[in-house]
Amino acid sequence: MGTKAIRGTFLDFIDDPWKHVGDEAAATRFHRDGLLVIEDGIVADFGVYDEVAPRHPGVEITEIRDRIILPGFIDGHIHLPQTRVLGAYGEQLLPWLQKWVFPEEHRYSERAYAEEGTKHFFDNLLASGTTTAQTFTTGNLTCNEVFFEEASKRNMRMIGGLTGIDTHVPDYFANTPEQFYTDSKALIEKWHGTGRNLYAITPRFAFGASVELMEACRRLKQEHPDLWVNTHISENPAEIHGVLALHDDCTDYLGVYEKFDLVGPKFTGGHGVWLSNSEFRRFSEKGAAVAFCPSSNLYLGSGLFRLGRALDPEHRVLISVGTDMGGGNRFSLLNSLEDAYKVGMLQNTILDGSIVPSDQDLEESERNKLSSLRAFYLLTRGGAESLYIDDKVGTFDIGKEADFVALDWTAGPPAAPWHASLLLEKGGDELSLETVTDLLFGIMMVADERAVDQTWVMGELAYQKA
Ligand code: GUN
Ligand code: ZN
Repeated sequence: MGTKAIRGTFLDFIDDPWKHVGDEAAATRFHRDGLLVIEDGIVADFGVYDEVAPRHPGVEITEIRDRIILPGFIDGHIHLPQTRVLGAYGEQLLPWLQKWVFPEEHRYSERAYAEEGTKHFFDNLLASGTTTAQTFTTGNLTCNEVFFEEASKRNMRMIGGLTGIDTHVPDYFANTPEQFYTDSKALIEKWHGTGRNLYAITPRFAFGASVELMEACRRLKQEHPDLWVNTHISENPAEIHGVLALHDDCTDYLGVYEKFDLVGPKFTGGHGVWLSNSEFRRFSEKGAAVAFCPSSNLYLGSGLFRLGRALDPEHRVLISVGTDMGGGNRFSLLNSLEDAYKVGMLQNTILDGSIVPSDQDLEESERNKLSSLRAFYLLTRGGAESLYIDDKVGTFDIGKEADFVALDWTAGPPAAPWHASLLLEKGGDELSLETVTDLLFGIMMVADERAVDQTWVMGELAYQKA
């Protein structure tokens, strides 16, 4: 691999912008003319070009002009075997799973089918600027082998694991708790910590798990406390009623995962649309994370996530953004940001008190507003923190893995360059943090994955837009 350097305009985060209301720039690190030095895929030096370059005489420099370079995007919640059910018509969560998802995911038991779908999956991630994803697979061993093999080939930092379900599911797609445990064990032995792969114990959701399957998850976590736990929580009202019917000793959905000792650091619950204040508080106290999946929550009609409530400083919850593709109808996290912004705006129609005065909460309302800096923080450093991989990815700090994305603010639908021209008449020579902040908002609201010009993985170009 050797040593190389990238010269261009860089933005990453040194803190959470929500902690700097009124001065979000204080959470950023911006170099209009920066240099990122990479040694064997790892950031070896980073800073202003004029300061860093003299420290590395003779290093081979690649210039990336007229682009904004950010750390690679992190998708906190996505489904590998749903690549082909993207855009399925007409159902809410539970019938959608039965009608579209289980039949398609079952096909991934066949190696050739799984390999083809998995290639599409990774190609789409890279074309969207996503370099890390916490991924659901299926309960089938072959599908999981193919996932980890392809992730290894691409050298991407991925989190995933055998996705178990044995309740409310057709027989052809059900795991047994014994098989779930044994196959998970085999995958953990073979893949956890191999290359950049990390393993997540993955009960699909409490609605789809018998007590025995949940016990198997508990046992795996006890035997491997360093593993991740990835699941769904409180996505859809019908699902929640079903979960509480299965566990009448629990007062809420999170209580079920708590009962089986799964909630703590490295636990992520996807969606969390209907989480109570008490559940947010327990997430926060335990260091557990929610994956906010706005495109899916809208597409499946699940509801409006209360971001501003989850981020209450009294009980700030760790948050990633997830596409939840194919429950979400896009691969691109840029589209998720667009939807997240709109969800916040909708919430604020209630929180400003103009409908019901007693609903007014202006502080929560302020936290719902997804500025571009808040948004891209969630896709990078914030997502990494929520997954406890911020020692590895999410910023350009020295020692981090050099995954990054170069965004073209003039690309995408015809309105994108038009929007950008309003902010920046000439090339990138006049870029300031303020302009970049505005361009990024334009990218998340007006553009789409066509704004992703290049995606780099461990210092290697992994995707170049045609
Ligand atoms: N809950 C359990 N399985 C799934 C799934 O595949 N997608 C979504 N959105 N929710 C789920
Ligand atoms: Zn999901």
